[in-house]
Amino acid sequence: MLILGLNMFHADASAAIVVDGEVKFAIAEERLNRHKHFGGFPSLAVRACLDAVGAHLSDVDHVAVGQDSDANLVKKVQYALSNPAKILNFIRLRKRKEAMRDVRLLLAKGLDIDSGKLRFQEHHLEHHIAHIASAYYCSPWEKAAGFSYDGSGDFVSTMTARCEGSEIQVLDRVFLPHSLGSFYTMICEFIGYTKYGDEGKVMGLAPYGKDTYCHEIERIVAAKNDGLQLDLSYFKPLGSNQGMQVLPDGTVRLARHFSDRMEELFGEPRKPYSEITQRDMDLAFAMQHRFEQIFFHLLNGLHARVPLDNLAMAGGCALNSVANGKLFDNTPFRKTYIQPAAGDEGLAIGAALHTYHSVLKQPRRHELRNSYLGPEFSDSRIQSALQSAGLEGRKLDRNALLEATAQQIAAGNVVGWFQGRMEWGPRALGNRSIVAHPGLPNMKDVLNARIKHREWFRPFAPSILADHQHEYFEHDHPSPFMLHVYKIRPEKRQALCAVNHVDDTGRLQTVTREENLLYYDLISAFHRKTGIPVILNTSFNENEPIVCTPEEAVDCFTRTRMDVLVIGPFIVQKAI
Ligand SMILES: [Fe+2]
Repeated sequence: MLILGLNMFHADASAAIVVDGEVKFAIAEERLNRHKHFGGFPSLAVRACLDAVGAHLSDVDHVAVGQDSDANLVKKVQYALSNPAKILNFIRLRKRKEAMRDVRLLLAKGLDIDSGKLRFQEHHLEHHIAHIASAYYCSPWEKAAGFSYDGSGDFVSTMTARCEGSEIQVLDRVFLPHSLGSFYTMICEFIGYTKYGDEGKVMGLAPYGKDTYCHEIERIVAAKNDGLQLDLSYFKPLGSNQGMQVLPDGTVRLARHFSDRMEELFGEPRKPYSEITQRDMDLAFAMQHRFEQIFFHLLNGLHARVPLDNLAMAGGCALNSVANGKLFDNTPFRKTYIQPAAGDEGLAIGAALHTYHSVLKQPRRHELRNSYLGPEFSDSRIQSALQSAGLEGRKLDRNALLEATAQQIAAGNVVGWFQGRMEWGPRALGNRSIVAHPGLPNMKDVLNARIKHREWFRPFAPSILADHQHEYFEHDHPSPFMLHVYKIRPEKRQALCAVNHVDDTGRLQTVTREENLLYYDLISAFHRKTGIPVILNTSFNENEPIVCTPEEAVDCFTRTRMDVLVIGPFIVQKAI
């Protein structure tokens, strides 16, 4: 049975293909059309999914979309009526959404085939159920508490659920405008981070701040018995676009979230790219602190209703790896499964798996243990990409390649590492990564100056052999998708100085043989040479979506000051 999952006309448009209950391939459209966070129709992603399993669109039995414009309609209408200025906007958006609901026509047009040939059944699933489904159905568990939170989706910002067998039973929703994600976005915007997806950057800024504004920021969002409540005087009305707009070319734009009240309390908002002041850092600190408090409150409330060890979680806010790393100390949950594509691209697999299990009543059978769901490329394609760029790669066998790469990393060189299938989700996890020595004091500056050009305050992440996690980190819960931040043990901070953040933490990826054998063996080879079972891992890109094809990797290598490219079996050293 073939099920195609879609996230479309929403940020991070994507597609996934599920064959007999197993996710075989999944990809965000941005990786193919190179338009970051693309929010249009994912026609390239759909084509890639079908090609990967050798199917045609006419073979597809079900198409599932992680969005349902009819969900929570009463709440939407109530909100529009209480904000009369927004009613016209509301009607316009409803009409646009209606046009987007004709999935058959959209797919036929996107793939240029006759819609009469399509026989699939169509399913629309509420945004947050799709998020929870994306985590729970990929987890190894038969029972779990389900949690999803983000800015907004189908007029909801937070959902809790009881997950058991094939069923997801929704317990509670927090409706807009109340949203922990919007709270975070609003303050990010106020301190000059105004683009969709900037929240992750500001999370790295927060530990540079002090608790100066914690008391003031606390007032903006309150913990309630049934969830959370914003003080709306700090916010501009979100409108029926729920604070986010997708332009006709697929660009995702955020509306201004903060009201004049923020300015009265904290002064002028920071202009993007201007100097970051202590005030901005202190606001970031207070924001992250309050976010965590409310997050733990919500999880503790969920645990009271679903008293299990297991938490299956997704939604854009679930990418807050700092909060994730602290949840074991602040809630009774003992195990997490956080979907690697916790943001909205993950809706595609959530909708597809929900159709398989909940709608079609098929038993659970699939655990998603790694994130390598994207395309891979043959050695001959890689070789021709190198040749086209005038590069000559030395072809090595597996052991020689690992030894040579580990040697380069140990010598302090910056290595582009392109292997196997591309990762699903926003993190590079050892197949489309730039890797480097984690213990060289200048490595962060080198990476930023030569390749990444990131904000000075953003940390780089460590990949660690899972068997050594307890020696280096204060927590031993695994973090296979780089979605937890833990304290680094004091005696190891020097050895990991290039990945040790200002608060002595690291957003680690734990690597096992089962999840990625080649990457595991690379870290092992580096370990043998240096005594450190860790390498620095950052995404293979330069202010663009992560590279997908060999040509993009070669292009990124040639245009930046990366020292070495290891791509498939080939190693290329840049001529100096
Ligand atoms: Fe979402």
